[in-house]
Amino acid sequence: MIENNKILEIKDLRVSYHTYAGEVKAVRGVSFELKKGEALAIVGESGCGKSVTAKAIMGLIKGPQGEIKADSKILYNGNNILNYNKKQWQEYKGGECAIIFQDALTALNPTMRVGKQIMENLTVHKHMNRKTAEKEAIEMLRKVGIPEPEKRAKQYPHQFSGGMRQRVMIAIAFACDPKILICDEPTTALDVTIQGQILDIIKKLQKEHETTVIMITHDLGVVANIAQKIAVMYSGIIVEQGSSRDIFYHPRHPYMWALIESVPRLNSNNKQVLASIPGIPPDLLNPPTGCPFSTRCNYCMQICKEKMPDCSEFENGHFAYCWLHHPLAPKIDMPDYKGDL
Ligand SMILES: Nc1ncnc2c1ncn2[C@@H]1O[C@H](COP(=O)(O)OP(=O)(O)O)[C@@H](O)[C@H]1O
Ligand code: SF4
Ligand SMILES: [Mg+2]
Repeated sequence: MIENNKILEIKDLRVSYHTYAGEVKAVRGVSFELKKGEALAIVGESGCGKSVTAKAIMGLIKGPQGEIKADSKILYNGNNILNYNKKQWQEYKGGECAIIFQDALTALNPTMRVGKQIMENLTVHKHMNRKTAEKEAIEMLRKVGIPEPEKRAKQYPHQFSGGMRQRVMIAIAFACDPKILICDEPTTALDVTIQGQILDIIKKLQKEHETTVIMITHDLGVVANIAQKIAVMYSGIIVEQGSSRDIFYHPRHPYMWALIESVPRLNSNNKQVLASIPGIPPDLLNPPTGCPFSTRCNYCMQICKEKMPDCSEFENGHFAYCWLHHPLAPKIDMPDYKGDL
């Protein structure tokens, strides 16, 4: 029996890239766990290690440049996938765990009809014969809302619009009924109305299949309607984690306050104001010993620059790494946000 239905447990995941300039510490100790059917969003600015985390879970970190540090654990149903042999990896990738990337055009095979690309997954992972796989592929295209699926199955990726191609990617991913689906910025390249449609499809299929989802995004709007849990990443570390409610309404890390305040808003002339957080994240070649947000934080104290804060736990598995929660820290008013996202 798997304790508490945990399907995925990431324990102290550390990933580095060895480059000419030195060791890029892309992921510096990430831990989280997911129960079957749960959806976790990983949010954070570009370059904070979201995609590298996703790649590690998908078995896509390649040596000699890429290295997953020895004590890292990625437990799938209790087994560390980092110890899998070749055959186990084959079964896992595509069959147990699937990924949807931002850029469907490069992820799809331009030389193969889309129906055939879905069929391939079904024949390899579900051992279907050609005829059954063909029927199922058309059914999947219908499920993701592609009109005239029989005709569209015979077309090539370049004959689809960006939104339709992303639907094809979703069809390929769900064809094998994966237990875990990772969506790495699946809607970033699409315009806003299409983004909503794509998220609705993912949500619907997730419910139907009871899939566990990891939604990676830098867009807080995307997160709000899909995830029950949120992990906030900054410079290769999860600096705050909790239920969506806690993270949106009662965030406890200054980085999350800055992220919320940087969400585009309408000004009095109804023009969108694009705010961003001043400053840049630390260089992952030389990560700081103290709090990684200290160079940009309005609340930074001397200790922040010197020592990494401990984990402070609040209610319901909500935690943050910040010196402001030390019992002896000066008291400040923590902001609460009410339904304005
Ligand atoms: N193949 C690679 N070689 C060297 N550095 C990499 C490689 N892939 C990612 N990185 C570095 O790792 C860090 C995290 O990248 P990534 O996970 O892609 O960020 P994001 O949060 O935007 O998805 C970045 O500093 C990036 O430059
Ligand atoms: S530990 Fe210090 S620098 Fe880091 S987020 Fe908290 S107050 Fe800001
Ligand atoms: Mg990325």
